[in-house]
Amino acid sequence: LREHAHQVFQTSRTEADLREHHAKLLGKRGELTNLLSTIRKYPADQRSAVGAGINALKHDVESMFEARLRGLAQSAKADELRQVPFDLGLPGRCQFERGHLHPIHQVKDELLSIFRSLGFVVASGPEVETEENNFTKLAFPPEHPATDMQDSFWVGPGVLLRTHTSNMQVREMTSPDLKLPLGVVSAGPVYRRDDDVTHSPMFHQIEGFLIDERVGMADLKGTLTAFAERLYGPGTPVRLRPSYFPFVEPGAEMDVGCVFCVRPDGGHDGCRVCKQTGWIEILGCGMIHPEVFRQCGIDGERYTGFAFGMGIERIAMLRYGIPDIRLMFENDLRFLSSF
Ligand code: PHE
Repeated sequence: LREHAHQVFQTSRTEADLREHHAKLLGKRGELTNLLSTIRKYPADQRSAVGAGINALKHDVESMFEARLRGLAQSAKADELRQVPFDLGLPGRCQFERGHLHPIHQVKDELLSIFRSLGFVVASGPEVETEENNFTKLAFPPEHPATDMQDSFWVGPGVLLRTHTSNMQVREMTSPDLKLPLGVVSAGPVYRRDDDVTHSPMFHQIEGFLIDERVGMADLKGTLTAFAERLYGPGTPVRLRPSYFPFVEPGAEMDVGCVFCVRPDGGHDGCRVCKQTGWIEILGCGMIHPEVFRQCGIDGERYTGFAFGMGIERIAMLRYGIPDIRLMFENDLRFLSSF
């Protein structure tokens, strides 16, 4: 009976199975229970020995049962742990669309990486700036119209939202860790009191400048030509036109061949974007004015430098044919998801 019990317990695969066998052996009419009732048939002097034997057997069978019960519970637990809890690869019930960088951010990163590949170091600075860094040290005369209440957002006396990224020239040149030669690019938001299809009160610029001994206009034009070719492709026509900014001398604006109507042979068909001229202005530039060097404590006899600045929205609008700058700040997903 002991062997029989061992065998049926070990071959039980489920708890229910096991309990059934347990009942057959030890239940009210179980085989072992019946065995106990046979004690009466033995002579009186043997009954206690037979009873003790049966009880020992009962005890053994009971502990075999307990052991198997624990074994089954353990292997059930182990099976459960071996199961993959849920399928991680299963697609979710609601499908979220994947986001991406704003088109201005994309163009900004592209412009910065072009200049980084040309050897410029990337710097960043604050949007709230002192009048000194934004205007005075850039040699704006005190009565210059750009310093007017009409053109700038003043935060307090002598403090404003920067109107251009040229503040970074001053910040770098007056930095205690200044080491020359120095080539820096910096991009970020700027603010002006403007609002129409091509002007927004907040927009983005990228500024670059290089200071070393014997830097000249040829270095400026060479750098900006290399930049234009990386942005618009090899052979992109560029030209510099004289222009005025208080902090450069000479000053210029750079045009690139109209990205919409210039033909491979160099001629152009004329279009609205370039006003039939075949040229599109993309940036302002020039040689850093000796007065700026003086204001920033740099020896302008020994060092020269060039600087340039451009609007990022303008580059993006030309790149993607966006007709109204305000589209870029409305956060309409139908617009944003097309980039
Ligand atoms: N800061 C000028 C602007 O905002 C651009 C510029 C930068 C011009 C550097 C010359 C040199 O229009």
